[in-house]
Amino acid sequence: MKKISLSGIKPTGTPHLGNYLGMIRPALELAKDYQAFYFIADAHALNQVGDGGELRRMTFETAATLLALGLNPEEVTFFRQSDIPEVFELAVILAASTAKGLLNRAHAYKAAVDANLTSGRDPDAGVNMGLFTYPVLMAADILLFGSHVVPVGEDQRQHVEIAADIAQAFNRAYGEVLVVPEAVIREEVAGIPGTDGRKMSKSYGNVIPIFSPPDQLHARIMGIVTDSRPPEEPKNPDQDNLFGIYKHFATREETEAMRRKYLRGGFGYGEVKQALYEVLERAFAAARTRYEGYLLDRPLLDRVLFAGAEKARASCAPLMNKVREAVGFRHGEATHLPSPAG
Ligand code: ADP
Ligand code: TRP
Repeated sequence: MKKISLSGIKPTGTPHLGNYLGMIRPALELAKDYQAFYFIADAHALNQVGDGGELRRMTFETAATLLALGLNPEEVTFFRQSDIPEVFELAVILAASTAKGLLNRAHAYKAAVDANLTSGRDPDAGVNMGLFTYPVLMAADILLFGSHVVPVGEDQRQHVEIAADIAQAFNRAYGEVLVVPEAVIREEVAGIPGTDGRKMSKSYGNVIPIFSPPDQLHARIMGIVTDSRPPEEPKNPDQDNLFGIYKHFATREETEAMRRKYLRGGFGYGEVKQALYEVLERAFAAARTRYEGYLLDRPLLDRVLFAGAEKARASCAPLMNKVREAVGFRHGEATHLPSPAG
């Protein structure tokens, strides 16, 4: 039996190169050796998106992105989180095995509280329960499928650790029912820089979308902040945003040639930006065409996600029954319940 790799991506905006390098590409690589479950975490996005049409649009965009980048739904169980009612059931069950203190220390919640305290507001001002219990829902996603590894970016490490803590607490109470998961994080892509040099993130507005049309991609790249030293000075490639993105898309020879250019000096950043544009076009032009095709066919995306959800529900049913039985809920399948008609 293959081990299980599972990951989710929130449909909260257009996927960018940080998402691609930090999560999508490693997850697709793991799918070769693991049984993979990848999904669109639309329930996690509720905290950020408060508009149904918008959430649905971004769900389709994110699904189209993954398919265009090579996710094969015949091999990967690919689904929409909200199509799996078992996730929500398990989240409620897991909440009873989750120390509140564990969630008080979760980064996103703690950051919101700290920001409130700094500005003299109530510690929980603007914090909803969706934000506070976010790690429990994520633990349910992970534990429901018996996941062994969870490919994510560095910022998700703590969430996977919380899921492992919750699994252990549950197992202490009820026996070895849940698999304790582990995050898989590639250090070399842990913090891909954005156009302003900070970590690329939708919340900073500094992203390079994976599938911008060529003219917009070009404009984005030309807008990447660089230092203002004269072109002839030698530069350290490892401290430069442009090189920090370029090296992940260039071949080894191209990367080495570029590294030597930096160390030697005597070139302009305009030249590097053009080279970056070219390697990105090379990497994504064909996938972009596929992406645009998928976006025009929502019924197809719906069918793919729904077929994935059916497979996912069948996969999680045995474990879910084990959990129900362990905690003292009903025994066996729902079809064994007496019908309401009596
Ligand atoms: P954002 O920060 O833009 O809102 P998400 O939180 O939706 O991105 O992240 C989705 C996945 O992509 C996560 O696994 C996250 O760790 C990864 N990721 C996001 N930004 C980066 C980045 N700049 N470098 C590497 N990985 C990233
Ligand atoms: N919290 C993750 C993010 O913001 C998305 C996510 C939801 C996820 N459920 C998951 C990732 C389960 C891995 C496993 O990027």
